Amino acid sequence: MKRKLLALTLATALFQPLHADEGMWLPALISQRIADMQDKGCRLSAEDIYSVNQASLKDAVVLFGSGCTGELISDEGLLVTNHHCGYGQIQRHSSVEHDYLKDGFWAMRRNEELPNPGLTVSFLERMDDVTAAVLNGVLPGMSEAQRDSVVKVRSAELTHQATAEGKGLTARVEPLFYGNQYFLYVYRVFRDVRLVGAPPSSIGKFGGDTDNWMWPRHTGDFSLFRIYADKDNNPADYSEDNVPYRPKRSFRISRKGVQEGDFTFVYGCPGSTREYVTSDEVRYIGEVSDPQKIALRTLRLNVQKKYMSQDQAVRIQYSSKNASVANAWKKWQGEARGIAKMNTVAEKQAYEQRFRQWARGTRYEGLVEKLGDLYARRNPYYLAYEYYMETVRTIELLQLTAAVQSKLSDKKAKDAQVEAFFKDYYQPIDEEIFAAVMEAFDQHLPESFKPAWFKEKLAAYGSVATWRDDLFARSLFTDKEKVLNLTEEDLDRVENDPAWEMYNAFLQWYAEELRPVISETTRAITLAYRDYMQGQMDFEPGKAFYPDANLTLRVAYGHVRGYAPADGVYYRPVSTLKGIIEKDNPDIFDYNIPQTLRDIYAAGGHDSQPVCFLATNHTSGGNSGSPVINADGDLVGINFDRVWEGTMSDIVYDPEICRNISLDIRYLLFNIEHIGHASYLFDEMKFAD
Ligand code: ARG
Ligand code: GLU
Repeated sequence: MKRKLLALTLATALFQPLHADEGMWLPALISQRIADMQDKGCRLSAEDIYSVNQASLKDAVVLFGSGCTGELISDEGLLVTNHHCGYGQIQRHSSVEHDYLKDGFWAMRRNEELPNPGLTVSFLERMDDVTAAVLNGVLPGMSEAQRDSVVKVRSAELTHQATAEGKGLTARVEPLFYGNQYFLYVYRVFRDVRLVGAPPSSIGKFGGDTDNWMWPRHTGDFSLFRIYADKDNNPADYSEDNVPYRPKRSFRISRKGVQEGDFTFVYGCPGSTREYVTSDEVRYIGEVSDPQKIALRTLRLNVQKKYMSQDQAVRIQYSSKNASVANAWKKWQGEARGIAKMNTVAEKQAYEQRFRQWARGTRYEGLVEKLGDLYARRNPYYLAYEYYMETVRTIELLQLTAAVQSKLSDKKAKDAQVEAFFKDYYQPIDEEIFAAVMEAFDQHLPESFKPAWFKEKLAAYGSVATWRDDLFARSLFTDKEKVLNLTEEDLDRVENDPAWEMYNAFLQWYAEELRPVISETTRAITLAYRDYMQGQMDFEPGKAFYPDANLTLRVAYGHVRGYAPADGVYYRPVSTLKGIIEKDNPDIFDYNIPQTLRDIYAAGGHDSQPVCFLATNHTSGGNSGSPVINADGDLVGINFDRVWEGTMSDIVYDPEICRNISLDIRYLLFNIEHIGHASYLFDEMKFAD
């Protein structure tokens, strides 16, 4: 009996990732994971999840725009994603008369749905391992450049063949495992996608940046769209004649809800992860890059906060900018802390020690050292580059000069951008940020890495403050009318402006002094990782490896589960409307809920209305809007965030603390009914229970 048990544990230990619930798996290879998924409670087959022969769940999932996920919830093209994913579209349809961001938007019939030029959704038709075809023609002894050109030619042939049918097909060959494998991805891209509904931001963005990356969470982060197609159900440009797209598959909605311990999986498009990098890279991220970027962003956030709290108009102007600065700022704090807490650098060093011993005498010998040398050469340059991006490149006036310079010959495009810029520009913030970040640039960048031009200028001015005062006083770009009046003939004036001069001098410095070394070392590093990745797979043949995320469709599975953020504290995994009412405060912008929600609650009966839940699914940026699916394949939630304490999962996953945050699908239904009064949408949905 004992022996049998041991054999069993060994068998299941084989082909496991390092940590339970870790992994972003390739849908086409899900048959390799399905036994484990079923062990954990899943009742689906591999073919239910991904199939090229029949409709499967993959046909109900889309890449929404170019950085989010969405899913079909009706056979008439109705799609749901996050509010923060549809934010740009909602904003573009908003004006003072119809502020859909503030008040929400609900189409009450099909002809009220709003078109969104430029917005696309992409369905994955199929994905195929094309490694052999792509490398066909790569011969031993070829140089890397020769290998690259074979890969390029073969990939072009494959994508050409795959899209021959037309009808909105596009295809890409993507390297996986640093080019040890290649997959062909074929997508059908729809271009007529209309806004159907969105809650007011006080629900869709409830908690704002105060609660972002946090639990307990109460954000109703969803928006609804509809995909339209031509009469033959094919992608088409917007037209009044288009009809709702009939998908091969859409999700059934479960109203049963979730409980701690339930199996769930997330089907979506995580953007980028680095799970297999060396200790040197992890140390750079956790001890150098993240802390310095956090410090620089703290400077900017402080300036923004000061002016935003003084003036309501400024608060509106800078709310979106402030949110995007704060988003990564908070994420990096969790990442750096998580890397330190998990001792990842030391763990990786110990692993590398074992790897090096094993690699002796093989073609993998010396790889870790080689990567170490390459990082040692790259990092000072990369650090300077990151400094440049988080300082000089954040000065809005310089951004404007660059945009105007490049669009000068197209007056209409230029003027549109200038109008948009000044609508949300508050010069005192920009001036104060200029001083703060350029001061930091001067103080923290090693002398040898500062551009000569910068040192001369600063010496001539004597101080950053004097430089700033002079630049903002002399630059024509602070004056909207002057910038609007610029025409093609004014290139000289633009290029003699002190703001352009500064923008351009730094750009030259980057292009000449940093970029060559960064490009060369990055190429060499990626190349070395091709071998090191293969080496890691050979070193641990029993381990299941998943490729780093690359914004292609993945399956991440795990369980609904709370976590202990600190000693003596346990977070339960489900939040409810009661918690929204507890946070509600008309004086705090992020917590000021609509009066209707207060009234609904006061009328009683909704105390335990579920709002959000936590699970152990391994997700990343890009998984926003992804379907969260139960053991029977029904939709129970919409992924929209992770907890900040677990954001190191892009590098190292901790089953104890890495949690994704999802909207409970029942809160979406609640909003459609009680806030949007759009229950007519239920008629096209399918309910499992
Ligand atoms: N943290 C989530 C993500 O990375 C949500 C961001 C949008 N929300 C916000 N409050 N900034 O996209
Ligand atoms: N909010 C993120 C997104 O837009 C998801 C959070 C994460 O990084 O997991 O994709």
